[in-house]
Amino acid sequence: MSLKKLLCISPSAAAVAGALGAPDDCGGMLAEWDIHSVASLREASRALRARNYPVGLVLDLPGTEGCEATERFFREHWNVQWIGVLAPDALESKPCRALVATWLADFHTRPVDRQRLLHTLGHAHGLALLRSQPAASAATSGLAALTGDSAAIARLRAQIGKVAQSDAPVLIWGESGSGKELTAQAIHTHSARAAGPFVPINCGAIPPALIQSELFGHARGAFTGAARDKVGLIESAAGGTVFLDEIADLPKDLQSNLLRFLQEKTIYRIGSTRSIAVDVRVIAASHVNLQQAVADGMFREDLYYRLNVLPIDVPPLRERKDDLDMLAQHFFHTFATEKAPHLKGFGTEALRAIRQHDWPGNVRELINRTRRAMVLGEGRLIAPHDLGLAPCSTQERGAGLDASRIDAERAAIGASLERAGRNITHAARDLGVSRMTLYRLLAKHGIQT
Ligand SMILES: Nc1ncnc2c1ncn2[C@@H]1O[C@H](COP(=O)(O)OP(=O)(O)OP(=O)(O)O)[C@@H](O)[C@H]1O
Ligand SMILES: [Mg+2]
Repeated sequence: MSLKKLLCISPSAAAVAGALGAPDDCGGMLAEWDIHSVASLREASRALRARNYPVGLVLDLPGTEGCEATERFFREHWNVQWIGVLAPDALESKPCRALVATWLADFHTRPVDRQRLLHTLGHAHGLALLRSQPAASAATSGLAALTGDSAAIARLRAQIGKVAQSDAPVLIWGESGSGKELTAQAIHTHSARAAGPFVPINCGAIPPALIQSELFGHARGAFTGAARDKVGLIESAAGGTVFLDEIADLPKDLQSNLLRFLQEKTIYRIGSTRSIAVDVRVIAASHVNLQQAVADGMFREDLYYRLNVLPIDVPPLRERKDDLDMLAQHFFHTFATEKAPHLKGFGTEALRAIRQHDWPGNVRELINRTRRAMVLGEGRLIAPHDLGLAPCSTQERGAGLDASRIDAERAAIGASLERAGRNITHAARDLGVSRMTLYRLLAKHGIQT
């Protein structure tokens, strides 16, 4: 039997021994664990990058590193099941209470009942295993992790957590390369369907002549060349989630078929009159504004409303520039095996140029530029030109001020819309502008309502 991996964070080794006891205590329960102890959050981050720990034990939260650093740490490593051991008076502090409520799977106060603590760790491990099962398959391993600690990504994670509890259709909007598929995968992974399949379908990539048979399958003899029955992609997702990417590209006649499926939860294979019940959750995504597509007569309104039960916006990368450093470092580690051996990381100028750039291709563009720099970079540190970016000249830093102003405007509008529950009248009042001005600003920044 393989040992259960546990990461223990505590400034003192004595505290770890005090909480967990000796291996033969508690009927040898501790012997089931492979424990790695670290003394700080920084060391813990390093350990988590090197190895997957499903469960973490934090002794004396938030320790010497302060609540903000601890919160940042938990945000980054949100997919670990964290258990806390606290001093009896720790919960009297408001920030500590907030940390416990938001990020911990469970906590114990001192004096610790070791047997109970080991039971808690065991439960947390079981839960982590369940949640990680689909992510452990080749197709999705590691993909369910959304890197970033900006407020925007924290909001996205919170939305994913809520939406994962429901079985209703989800409609994800976001620019190309912003992380729509990763978001859909995270919803699936955190849902009760996690043990079932996650089947992504790019509606824009399948030739129109084939799409009906790909989605719904066909019966033998349905058309020339249909030598045997074929199970469609929707049916193959039974018990799990089907992800309909670029849903706006679905031809109109198939939009009707999809609508029928959403209403009746049954499908007909082409050439068959037998209805087949399929238990599948539908998540759709689009980079075009579907409301506009409806207005232009390109997308069925009734299908739009069927799909748009739980809407999620994935923010473009330029609206979460605070994530850029972390994402760049993340991809540097992800593609470490491809890098030139002399390369040690990003230079300061490169990081500055990354912040300066507007990232129209979003995270996918960051991945591509980083990989290119890692292969072609000639110095010890990545320079702006390795990334295909111009260095920030003094003049451009001036332009950066304009960019910062625009960023601030966009952020203020985003925050107001959020506060106003996306109600334009309330958001306009909150911002102190007229509704017309707000509409103009929304169009200027390309913000969807
Ligand atoms: N927050 C993130 N952390 C780590 N990787 C990310 C993040 N967001 C996106 N990625 C990675 O960026 C790439 C693009 O993401 P994804 O395919 O989910 O975007 P998309 O919105 O579906 O793009 P497209 O519109 O081109 O289909 C993927 O390799 C994904 O793993
Ligand atoms: Mg996609």
